[in-house]
Amino acid sequence: MTSSDVAATLPQACDFTVFGGTGDLALRKILPALYHRDLEGHLPPDTRIIGVSRSEIDDDGYRAEVRAGLEAHLAPEHLDPDAVERLLGRLHHLCLDSGSGEGWHLLHDLLKDRPHADETVRVFYLAVAPRLFGPTCARLAEIDVVDERARVVMEKPIGHDLASAREVNDAVGEVFEERQIFRIDHYLGKESVQNLLVTRFANTFLEPLWSSRWVDHVQITVAETVGVGSRGGYYDHAGALRDMVQNHLLQLLCLVAMEPPTYVGRENVRDEKLKVLQALKPMSPEDVDRDTVRGQYAAGLTAEGPVPSYADDLAGPEAAGAPDSWTETFVALKAEVRNWRWAGVPFYLRTGKRMDRRVSEIVVVFKEPPHAMFPGSEGGTTANRLHICVQPDEGMRLHLTAKEPGPGGIRLRPVSLDLSYADAFDQRSPEAYERLLMDVIRGNPTLFMRRDEVEAAWSWVEPVLARWADSSERPRRYPAGTPGPYAAAALLERDGRAWQETDQ
Ligand code: BG6
Repeated sequence: MTSSDVAATLPQACDFTVFGGTGDLALRKILPALYHRDLEGHLPPDTRIIGVSRSEIDDDGYRAEVRAGLEAHLAPEHLDPDAVERLLGRLHHLCLDSGSGEGWHLLHDLLKDRPHADETVRVFYLAVAPRLFGPTCARLAEIDVVDERARVVMEKPIGHDLASAREVNDAVGEVFEERQIFRIDHYLGKESVQNLLVTRFANTFLEPLWSSRWVDHVQITVAETVGVGSRGGYYDHAGALRDMVQNHLLQLLCLVAMEPPTYVGRENVRDEKLKVLQALKPMSPEDVDRDTVRGQYAAGLTAEGPVPSYADDLAGPEAAGAPDSWTETFVALKAEVRNWRWAGVPFYLRTGKRMDRRVSEIVVVFKEPPHAMFPGSEGGTTANRLHICVQPDEGMRLHLTAKEPGPGGIRLRPVSLDLSYADAFDQRSPEAYERLLMDVIRGNPTLFMRRDEVEAAWSWVEPVLARWADSSERPRRYPAGTPGPYAAAALLERDGRAWQETDQ
């Protein structure tokens, strides 16, 4: 998505500071993404990358860690020795504790003591625990390194509920203006998610069909095969609704349901997404009981072999007994966007860990033809479906009904038109972070979540959390390696529908 609105331009000089510079996110995602952009010559020529952490290492020690990180997380064919050296040459490390007041003068000196310091774009990436977002920003203001060109980047979770999200937003907003705040939802950086906007708005054929007149319902699935792994400490306080639905799935829903903006850029897309969130039908306690399903994985058999239950994952291999956690690792729910375009069209969302396959997909299921036009034919018509595959095989598939070749009667058969991005564009699909980090450096906020969006999403999710917290019914167990609890299938069966599985 490019736009000419953009006051967003590539600066000559950038100081990209990563708090949590030796952490998993930095080594696994942020630095590999910066490496790729540097490899392509896209970083501003005068860019420094400053890792901030509590590790007592110097610049060379940091370079060694980052080198190991790049080697671990990039495909060997993408490791260009010159580009690796160039990136490592940009690195600095500062040892300071975001939570305490010590060492901050070092950051001040490093940022100010450079040529063109006053024209340098300063990016502050908060890859640290959310409780440190506010205090870190306050320190940055104290050491006087936040000017009008500065930007701050935050990862989810932005809060635990509406009130805590407001607190975080208030604290960060004390220091940075909203235009300087970049809240990452990495789903928005995925190529296929951006392509959804292009498919909808750079073509004409879908738009007349894209409403309750022709669409029967929409399904959005984000299924993972992994369990919680080592993230149990965070996850057990979050659960799938907070971890995935409040952000990634609702963002996907917004992109499917939003009205065409006047153009794709800056605030327009975010304005339209916000309207969708505000149009979501609020969930009453009865709606939550009827229209949501939560599950938790039990031990099961996956392609990797036998895997333990969520509770055992939480406890770890050494523990004597597993904790009795009610945290959901699976959610399915039925939502409705109450506006002129979509009223009456169910949006079914589901996400889970330890499911039978890894797939993120949006399926738009169209209505059946109004009447059977082929009397005596063999086979029947099936509703047209547009599958938009976000991952792993990015692409699109349109299911149609066709006549099987042959003399005699008419035999109706389902067929599909397949578009695989890998085949259509013979080039590497960049990681979401590559796109998003460049947008931060350029100052283009289109693909980031605005404060009002985050808060509107929490407002919609909160009644579900509240009802579940009051409920005496625990999440339904589903064996790892399966499509989730049966109740999720029943949620659609009740409406005479079924989840669309990829190979159907
Ligand atoms: C993160 C969640 O935001 O998204 C994780 O915290 C989840 O729990 C991940 O595994 C999924 O991202 P992706 O890009 O692998 O689909």
